Amino acid sequence: MLSRDTLSREFERRYGAKPRVFSAPGRVNLIGEHTDYNDGFVLPMAIDRRTFVAAAPRSDRRVVAHSLTANGSVDPDLELPGPPRRGTWLDYVEGTARALLERGFTIRGANLLIDSDVPIGAGLSASAALELATGYALASLAGDRAPDRAQLALAGQAAEHRYVGTLCGIMDQYVAALGQRERALLIDCRSLELKPIALELGSSCILVCDTKVKHELSSSAYNERRQQCREGVALLAKAVPEVQALRDLTPSQFDALASRLPTLIAKRCRHVVGENARTLAAARHLQARRLPDFGALMSLSHASLRDDYEVSCPELDEAVSGALGHPGVYGSRMTGGGFGGCTVTLLESSAVERVSASIRERMIAKFGIEPAFFATRACDGVREE
Ligand code: GLA
Repeated sequence: MLSRDTLSREFERRYGAKPRVFSAPGRVNLIGEHTDYNDGFVLPMAIDRRTFVAAAPRSDRRVVAHSLTANGSVDPDLELPGPPRRGTWLDYVEGTARALLERGFTIRGANLLIDSDVPIGAGLSASAALELATGYALASLAGDRAPDRAQLALAGQAAEHRYVGTLCGIMDQYVAALGQRERALLIDCRSLELKPIALELGSSCILVCDTKVKHELSSSAYNERRQQCREGVALLAKAVPEVQALRDLTPSQFDALASRLPTLIAKRCRHVVGENARTLAAARHLQARRLPDFGALMSLSHASLRDDYEVSCPELDEAVSGALGHPGVYGSRMTGGGFGGCTVTLLESSAVERVSASIRERMIAKFGIEPAFFATRACDGVREE
């Protein structure tokens, strides 16, 4: 990836103007998976991988975007209605521009040059980083005040729903917008209330393992899970009308009602109800620096995603079980939507080399895949550089 200054120079070379540079981070979710679109709780952090957007205004109403990491450019005219989806990264840029307009942001035409070191398609929310960096750039160029970050996050989510076709929750965009250095964010996805929790990890660290696997169908399976949860809520509400979302039930209340649901729907709902309880408990452990207890909940979360929600895959399971057998590992789980992508592991820093080498060896032997590893830390959300 280019440094900030080289990106600015490259922008000047292409467009003949000095740009402002904006950036937004990818994320890793520590716990609270597939709970966000169920009005539940999540505990992600923004990571030290970012998408940069160099930007300068144009005199017309076109948004001309080039990326240094992916081919193609987009130049929608904001005066004209949008085209159908293209199925490429351009949808995130155009979708964000149009969603900002729909939410009442003033934006003007702009030239954008994009660069990123958030791995694409790895489940680290490269798309939310792109939406937030683009949205912050466009809104900043047009106004003199710092744009409202929560509103930008909602615009990014709307772009996914309408232009990309993934009915995602708010987690990825929210943490890309509002992430904080050295803190994870406990987000209540119903009220959108945020509680930053200090990541005082001492001699431990957070290790990401990118399995480099991307299974087809992840978007349709995601939307299907969402639909199954909705079906579960509708059936449960017949017995308990106050239940508007799965977060309105504790695990024991759910157990008493589960027999009213078809088996598959009950499994999906059991995961979500349990995951909300685990996330709230994990946040308390993190706050009290009880890392072994926190890690144990991460591993339970993985088992539930694998067995009840069925969004894991053999490669993710191997990376998790490969980590869990080692001394110094507190917990490990898949992170993000699933069906490939990354795992996140909480472990003693002194164990990183040994654990990565052992997972690498196992994955090569079993799948012929060489995973990538990086230790990461919590960083700030979207900003002007
Ligand atoms: C994807 C979505 C998020 C969230 C996770 C699963 O990353 O974009 O909204 O639902 O999957 O927790």
